[in-house]
Amino acid sequence: MNKIANTNYDVNSLIKERWSARAFSDKNISDELLNQFIEAASWAASSMNEQPWLYYAAHRGTPAFNQMIEVLMPGNQTWAKEAAVLLISLARKKFTNGNLNRHYMHDVGAANQNLMLEATANGVLGHLMGGFDVAKTKEVFNLREDLDPVVLIALGYPGSAEQLPAPFNEREVAPRSRKALEEVLVKK
Ligand SMILES: Cc1cc2nc3c(=O)[nH]c(=O)nc-3n(C[C@H](O)[C@H](O)[C@H](O)COP(=O)(O)O)c2cc1C
Repeated sequence: MNKIANTNYDVNSLIKERWSARAFSDKNISDELLNQFIEAASWAASSMNEQPWLYYAAHRGTPAFNQMIEVLMPGNQTWAKEAAVLLISLARKKFTNGNLNRHYMHDVGAANQNLMLEATANGVLGHLMGGFDVAKTKEVFNLREDLDPVVLIALGYPGSAEQLPAPFNEREVAPRSRKALEEVLVKK
């Protein structure tokens, strides 16, 4: 299953091919490939090259994977439990010198996008999830005060929409859309 973006301009195919899938096959993701995805993430630009990102990773079938499922909102649990790998994308809120890094969210988002594109280039689809219990995540994973859990990420090889219960099966095949360029670009 793919949902290639229908663009007006000649956008790079990797960008067009990334999308937020919920149906995953039972094929595992090797540790080698997972390392490659995280290395891709780490080549994102960041304020002062602080690289404020940190990833907790777990393969399906491990205790840590089940703990990650537990912190997700029920709707996300329904399909994310079939992912091959779950990640918690964490951010260090402060610079090494102790000052607040005002751009930490920006930089972690950039790293996550690199990760998703590297996954896409290797036939793996990812799905970012903001729907999780932040307080529970901090408790279950015993997070230090300066670490902010930003999103969870489900990764897996593509499955088929029929695997999913409603309403996710319909969403899986629904067309993707974006705001018109005029809504997001103001030429001054
Ligand atoms: C920060 C963030 C949080 C998100 N949280 C969820 C979520 O909790 N559950 C979900 O199903 N999708 C979630 N999404 C996926 C978005 O709904 C999806 O990216 C958006 O609809 C655009 O679709 P596309 O990624 O296929 O282009 C999230 C995406 C981002 C970037």
